Parts: sequence; C-alpha cells; structure tokens
Amino acid sequence: SRVKIDPAQIEYTSDKQKNAVQALIDEFTISPELLKDIKNNFMEGMQKGLKKDGETLAMITSYVMGRLDGSEVGSYLALDVGGTNLRVVSVHLTGGGEISTRQTKYRIDEKLKVGDAKALFDFMAVCVDNFLDEHQIVVRGDTQIELGFTFSFPVLQTSINRGTLISWTKGFNAAGMVGKDPVAYLQDAFNRRHIPVRVAALVNDTVGTLLAHAYHHPDTVMGVILGTGCNGAYIEQISNIEKWKGDAAAKEMVINMEFGAFDKERTILPLTMFDNKMDRKSVNPNKQILEKMIAGMYLGEITRNVLLNLIDRRLLFEGHISPDLNQMWTFETAYMSTIEADASPTLHATRKILESTLSFPATSLNDRQIVKLVVELVGKRAARLSAAALAGILEHTGSWKQKSAIGIDGSLFEYYPSFDTDIMDGLEEVFGPVVRKNISIGLAQDGSGVGAALCALLAAKHSTSVV
Ligand code: GLC
Repeated sequence: SRVKIDPAQIEYTSDKQKNAVQALIDEFTISPELLKDIKNNFMEGMQKGLKKDGETLAMITSYVMGRLDGSEVGSYLALDVGGTNLRVVSVHLTGGGEISTRQTKYRIDEKLKVGDAKALFDFMAVCVDNFLDEHQIVVRGDTQIELGFTFSFPVLQTSINRGTLISWTKGFNAAGMVGKDPVAYLQDAFNRRHIPVRVAALVNDTVGTLLAHAYHHPDTVMGVILGTGCNGAYIEQISNIEKWKGDAAAKEMVINMEFGAFDKERTILPLTMFDNKMDRKSVNPNKQILEKMIAGMYLGEITRNVLLNLIDRRLLFEGHISPDLNQMWTFETAYMSTIEADASPTLHATRKILESTLSFPATSLNDRQIVKLVVELVGKRAARLSAAALAGILEHTGSWKQKSAIGIDGSLFEYYPSFDTDIMDGLEEVFGPVVRKNISIGLAQDGSGVGAALCALLAAKHSTSVV
C-alpha cells in the first residue's frame, strides 16, 4: 500500500523542471523489451562462465552437491563476513527442520576493510574467540569446533574449504589478498591464538542462503542476496558444467554466479552519468557494474548524484545545497526506503529526512515530490534489473515451469518497500502469469549463518558432497 508519485500531478515550477524530470524518467525506466534483452544477454554470460574460468560471470563451482532435507543434526559455528557487520553464529540443528541460533554482531572498522589483510583476519579470529567466551562454549581435549566461513566475495574454489580470492568487492580492499586463500589466512589466525576451531567450509552468502532456504523449502532452486551487494546461486546439472574437472558421479552442483560483475563490457546495461560518477569514486571502478545499479551500498549515492545535478541546475530546492548532501555516500539507501514508504500528502517523512537529517532549509512540496520520484526511479530500476537476472536463471534452468522456491536475504530485499512486487512484475513480463503460480519468493533471513553451518555439516559428513 504505497503511494507512488504521479509525475503528471506534480506542479512544476518551470517547463525546464518538467523536462528535466521527464528526461530522468526516460533514462531510468527499464522497458519490458530491455528487460528481456538484458535477460538474454545474461543467459549467454551464464553459458560462457560454465565453459571456462575467467569469464565475466564467474559461475563458481561451490563444491556443494545435491540437496538437504531438514533431517540433519549437529552443532556448528558460522562466521559471516562480507556485509556491513561481521557476525558469529552458533547453530544447532536438532533434526525435523528445527534450528536454533545464537549470534553476536561486530562492526568492521572501515580502516580494517582497506588495510592489512592479516589484521583483518586476526580481527575475525578475535571475534570468534570472544564469542566462545561470551557464550561459554568449552572445548574438551583436542577436539575442534567445526566452522562454516561465509566469506562473501568472489573466491575461485578448489575444494569445499579451499580457494583463491579473485577480487574484493563492496568496499573491501585489504592489501595482498587477491590470489590468496582466505581459509588459510583465517585458520592461521586461529592457530596462532590456539583457538580450537577448524574452518570446515568456505561458503558464499548466496550458497548459504540457498541451503538455509532449502532446509525448510525442499523445492528451493536459487539463493539470492539483495543487500550491501547482490548476487545469486542456483543448482546446476553437473553435465552442463563443461569446465568441471572433479567428481563426475555427482549429479548437481550449487553455482555461485557472482552476477554483480555482469556486463563488465558495458554492452547492455543502461548506465547513466549518475552511475558513472559513482563508479569512478568507488574503490573498484569499472567492476561490479550490475551490483552498482542494484545493491544497497550504491543506490543512495546514485540518488545523491541525481539530486545534486538538479540542484546545480537550480531545478530543486531553489538551488540551495546542504553541506551534508555535498559529502559522498551521505544519502543512505535506508533513507530511500523511508521516502518510498512515505504516503502522507505533505510527504512528511521525506521532509524530515531532508530538513532534519540532511539539514536542508525549508523544502517545498514540489521539492519533496521530485526527491521521492527520483528515489522511486532508482529503486524500481534496481528491482527490475534484479528481475532480469532472476529471469535469466529461471529460464536457463527451466524451473519457472514448475513449483520452485527462491530464497532471498539482504537488507534491500527485507526493508525496501515493494522490491518483491517489482521483481514479480518483471518476471511476469518475461514468463506470463504462470510464473506467479509457480515461483514463490521468500525472505531467507539469516541465510548465510545457518547455510554456512549446514555446509560445515555436509563437509564433515561427506568431505565434499551433500546427499
Ligand atoms: C558481492 C560479492 C558476492 C556476494 C554479494 C552479496 O557481489 O562479490 O560474493 O555474494 O556481494 O553479498
């Protein structure tokens, strides 16, 4: 129940303003045709990535094979690194689909993200150590606690708990890590401190989300993250993975697509100057292009760039600027959620953000309507691009034709109003109304923690495979 701004109802202050708004609508709208073109292009990218390493869509083999059924039991630790916070979770699987968890969040200092890699991994080990103390988890003799390490970056895996970092994403850039094994770094940090923990599995958050959702919904075909970053994992037939040189007996493999990297070549995505401006100032320019148009880390900054442009042309706030908005990354994606949800005729919540949080002088209704419209454009584009990616996976696997579940986790999906409806509308444009009957999209809260524990369990049970 959200009230969208109708551009025809805005009382524009000038024709120039009206034209500028129309130009933004044109630039940010993904037509049904474009959505399908992106989907097709995305599917070609999937095929390429399944053939060989080093392609734009990395299509990483996760070494998680087969499915879960909820009967699994055991206690595991999970360490989740890759979003805004670091989380340590202890997970108890009691069988019958029952799970109980305890978790503690720790903030990762911005300096650690871009500093020395060893310091970053030492910090992770210290957090786990604190967690064990805090929850009085005692280890007897020389047994070790099995840990699932959710490390949500592109890691080219060579086994369930080995791999090399392809690149950092999402504002992380710790020196000297690319090409190295994050598990070795973490295990070394545990060993040096005599912390009795063994890293049993390395898991991408999308893979964890898939596993966690599948624990409750056995027809899960996909795990997706729409949060600080964005990405998806799905179940692929081994016979379709040409580059796979491992165990041929297994039938299925979870693929971590790393789809945030899509369209590195910039051939299909409708990038605007506002996207490019943000990209240039990011820590990884020219990388993760799709992620930068979808994910929570970037949407606020794109919006800020649009607003600044309107201000500089004196088409918004009578040309007044706020020192806050002049600073990069100050317009948080969380503000967008609030503004999207603002249904009051005077746009009260929007006013509060602009005047109280961002210290703008008094705003007019016209100002606030235009701000809300810009937010809606940036948000809807993100949801429709997500739909294009999801549609590509559904068409590739054919799973849109039967009852299938998609588990999605991440702050954007959880808190951004009607992201899910916009995604479903996009899927319907591709597949028709049948998709509403067949595909269920569910919030897979805490997917990465539970999923990592499930992965550690599977690793302990079968060394690499899931039965
Ligand atoms: C980034 C990471 C990817 C992760 C996603 C969501 O795209 O590269 O590994 O799954 O963010 O957190």
